[in-house]
Amino acid sequence: MPEHPALLPPDVRLAVLGDPIAHSLSPVLQNAGLAARGFPFRYGRLQVAEAEVGQVFQQLRRTCLGWNVTLPLKRAALNLVDEADHEARRLGAVNTVAVRDGGLIGTNTDGRGLHLALDEAFGAGWERKRILILGAGGGAGSAAARYLAAIGVPCLLLANRTPKKLLGLEADLARHTHVETYGWQHLETAFAGAELIVNATSVGLNGAPLDWDSGWLRPDHTLFDLVYRAEPTPVVAWARARGIPAHDGLAMLFHQGVRAFSWWFGDPLPAVAMRRALYAAAGRGQ
Ligand code: ATR
Repeated sequence: MPEHPALLPPDVRLAVLGDPIAHSLSPVLQNAGLAARGFPFRYGRLQVAEAEVGQVFQQLRRTCLGWNVTLPLKRAALNLVDEADHEARRLGAVNTVAVRDGGLIGTNTDGRGLHLALDEAFGAGWERKRILILGAGGGAGSAAARYLAAIGVPCLLLANRTPKKLLGLEADLARHTHVETYGWQHLETAFAGAELIVNATSVGLNGAPLDWDSGWLRPDHTLFDLVYRAEPTPVVAWARARGIPAHDGLAMLFHQGVRAFSWWFGDPLPAVAMRRALYAAAGRGQ
């Protein structure tokens, strides 16, 4: 087998892999943690297309301590690790890999990250609401739906532009909770039946205008966007324009990242330093 050139500089022993990846704030978050703990290595970022991910995992296992996996690689990563923990298996995806004794051990910190971010955004009680997940057929949306069903939310409304992507998910989740599915032409009905709306689509991120009808929103709705790229995201701006409490995914990035750090290095967790660095890089107060 031909030798591949090194993917990362020698002092970079952790990274986030995805496509696209240039926008990712994971390096800021994780490097603040590494510096606080005094580790002599850094965390980088690596653009990896889905077709290359298997080969990249094999290369990184020789030089890295671990890595994060983001879109669109999380589902593929589940089949590429040597061992996936219970959380990764129940979410059907891996977002964090640790190299231990040469083996790749995967977990998923996104569900817990979402949970803590929703606690932060809306306080206790959100988990008793009727929750609509937009884009539930995508990687991020289906993992969120699986997590929420597993913690026992009473009702999930799943909507996806391509409704057939919901078929397997609906069957799996119906064992845990009440599930309703909606195609994109029935979004108005889905919003009418929901209290908390979670956006897991990439709608609006390619610069295309958001063509959702703001009449779908009611004053008692709350909205959470898994995306964190720009402030406000198109979906958050859309909801806030109607006076709806709406939050983006920056807090989720923070909470999943602290738990990833813990998967690699355990206690003590330098969460305060990590949060300060992340929010400063995003140009926000804490
Ligand atoms: P991820 O792993 O980030 O969830 P993905 O699997 O490509 O990425 O899923 C992106 C989600 O956004 C999907 O639910 C996708 O809908 P389809 O399953 O129909 O492709 C949704 N999405 C992307 N662009 C969209 C658009 N313009 N309108 C509606 N849904 C969109």
